[in-house]
Amino acid sequence: MFMDLDTPSVDYVLSTTRSVRLRLDFDRNVDLQIVLDCIDIAEQAPTGGNMGSRRWVVVTDKAQKEKIAELYLKSAGNWMIKTRDKISGTSHPNEKMIESAAYLAENLAKSPVIVIPVIIGIHDNSGRPGLFDSVIQSAWSFCLALRARGLGSAWTTAILSEQDELKEILDIPSGITEIAMFPVAWTKGTDFSKISRTPSREITFFDEYGLTFENGPSSPISFSDGPGVSVEVDIDCPVSKVWEIATDINFPAKFSNEFVSAEWDNDIKEVGLGSKFTGKNNNKNIGEWTVECTIDVYDQQRIFGWCTGDPSSPGARWRFELEAFGSSTRLCHKVLLGPGSSGLTRLIEQQPDKEDRIIYIRAASIKENMTNVVEGIKTYLES
Ligand SMILES: Cc1cc2nc3c(=O)[nH]c(=O)nc-3n(C[C@H](O)[C@H](O)[C@H](O)COP(=O)(O)O)c2cc1C
Repeated sequence: MFMDLDTPSVDYVLSTTRSVRLRLDFDRNVDLQIVLDCIDIAEQAPTGGNMGSRRWVVVTDKAQKEKIAELYLKSAGNWMIKTRDKISGTSHPNEKMIESAAYLAENLAKSPVIVIPVIIGIHDNSGRPGLFDSVIQSAWSFCLALRARGLGSAWTTAILSEQDELKEILDIPSGITEIAMFPVAWTKGTDFSKISRTPSREITFFDEYGLTFENGPSSPISFSDGPGVSVEVDIDCPVSKVWEIATDINFPAKFSNEFVSAEWDNDIKEVGLGSKFTGKNNNKNIGEWTVECTIDVYDQQRIFGWCTGDPSSPGARWRFELEAFGSSTRLCHKVLLGPGSSGLTRLIEQQPDKEDRIIYIRAASIKENMTNVVEGIKTYLES
């Protein structure tokens, strides 16, 4: 039977299945048939070699749940509670997340049901397909199926650090791998929302790693597709230090084969939005050239960006984006070419029939330099 899919509803479930902790309804009983129905749905997920090696441990016994809750506290729950008490009211970026995580740690035993998906086998890093790849998608389908019925869960893995004790509590044999632990309950209300995530065009590369397009891309690619390049490194150094280097406009010259130097305009007192500098470049094919640059994004400790040429129609937009991971920083260096004119557009005008080749070659050369720059910053800051 062909069924018209209600795509908006499917998308709504896919984009609003949150980690529910504070809004789990611990007072409402969960009919186990619903859990089994959701497992049946989850079992429709693909599995390596088409082998059904997933198993599901559903815990409802009070004493068993209390043992699991105790183990969860030992694994990371006590740390979550301590951290919540420490950062509460400080506007720390993780304050809300830790508040919710600590709440679950304190109340896990009250969850009507706890579900632990497992798979037969031990991950041995042999590279053979299967194991985690055959269970993760199924476990997530389970969470989605719960959400579609008004129930909620949170994907948790903290307890897996105490796998031996978890096996002991549940009598799980040694050749089995536990994948996650889901508290399962009806949710208090069902109005969960989408959250902000990086737009697909910034993290999707077409045909070559690091190659982005603001539009299209068409076939063959063209300048109006808005080609761009993105490279990134993880630096074992706090954001404040990386920000200092990323905003030093001369620092990349140490590592780039093209960028030579930069100089702020004379009348700048403090760098910020609208500040201007002149960049000097040298390339064996193009020769030497200077370009006026304007700071067009300035988000302290987050994004430092400048555009070249006319800010209302720039030749290129360059960005350093910083993201904190504990005491480390992910530094992403991006460039978006166009929409205004530049050396690249002049080259294309001279040989319009080679537009795609010119763009690929220019992107490859830019990527090499950008990679040298971020790797150079990493080496400098980590040494
Ligand atoms: C692999 C993985 C492990 C996680 N482990 C835990 C955990 O042990 N405890 C917990 O409270 N949340 C855990 N989470 C939930 C995240 O903290 C959660 O995704 C985050 O708070 C963002 O919330 P959202 O899912 O609503 O976007 C885990 C999530 C993932 C994907």
